[in-house]
Amino acid sequence: MEKKITITTFLKKKESGEKIVMITAYDYLTAKLVDETGVDGILVGDSVGTVLLGYNSTIPVTMDEMLHHVKAVARAKPKALLVADMPFMSYEASNEDALRNAGKFIKAGAEAVKLEGGVEVVDRVRALVNAGIPVMGHIGLNPQRIHKLGGYKYRGKTSEDALSMVEDAKALEESDVFAIVIECTMAEVAREIMKRVKIPTICIGSGPYCDGQIIVLHDILGLTPFQLSFVKRYANLAEEIVNAVRKYSDEVRSDIYPSKEYYRSMDPKEYEKFIKKLHRGED
Ligand code: KIV
Repeated sequence: MEKKITITTFLKKKESGEKIVMITAYDYLTAKLVDETGVDGILVGDSVGTVLLGYNSTIPVTMDEMLHHVKAVARAKPKALLVADMPFMSYEASNEDALRNAGKFIKAGAEAVKLEGGVEVVDRVRALVNAGIPVMGHIGLNPQRIHKLGGYKYRGKTSEDALSMVEDAKALEESDVFAIVIECTMAEVAREIMKRVKIPTICIGSGPYCDGQIIVLHDILGLTPFQLSFVKRYANLAEEIVNAVRKYSDEVRSDIYPSKEYYRSMDPKEYEKFIKKLHRGED
């Protein structure tokens, strides 16, 4: 039986140089499937808002929505480390908010939480870690901060921005995060951060030099309608689903489905009795 992955496993992998693999899941079924592959971490990302719930950003996602999905994934009892994403405004206002909301995720079965931001969130991180809640940092493109960042823009293009990201990473490490996600950042910047911190760095859209990678499951399966430049599609399930449902509709409309093997019939004698009684009742 494979061993449960913990934050210690993540730290050991950084030391040994073994790559860390993380992926998102938002429900019991996909959590079971991705866990079967032996990934190291499952993130119930607030990307659920754009991928499954039809929002046009992650900003409207609520604690109740996240809890619903975290509970579903936790029911899969994954071997992978289960990380819950703190949604926008569930931690920004105060340490008390952060503790109360992160506590709900841990009670629901998450084993760590992730929150966006660098230097500005170190107080929150310390409060959570002091309460025994492991925290994953998230720097670079922070989708919850798109209004401040001026949109979904790559980070680390200028030396000033690159340096501020190194400072963010160091501040998060000092406040005891167990890992840092680096999203949509110039690859050289991610590499310099990776070399300068002892905790694992997990890249998304930030090149190959991090200690691991994370990706949105529905993107690599080809289920989401947009093609992000950093996403490699390993399947085209959207096309498969549309084709399958079209075929089903055609077969229903042309009386092909359900054919004999998909339904059950009464015993002929019992059927005869049934029809006789039916007719008698109708006389
Ligand atoms: O919400 C999410 O899925 C994420 C990953 C993209 C890192 O934060």
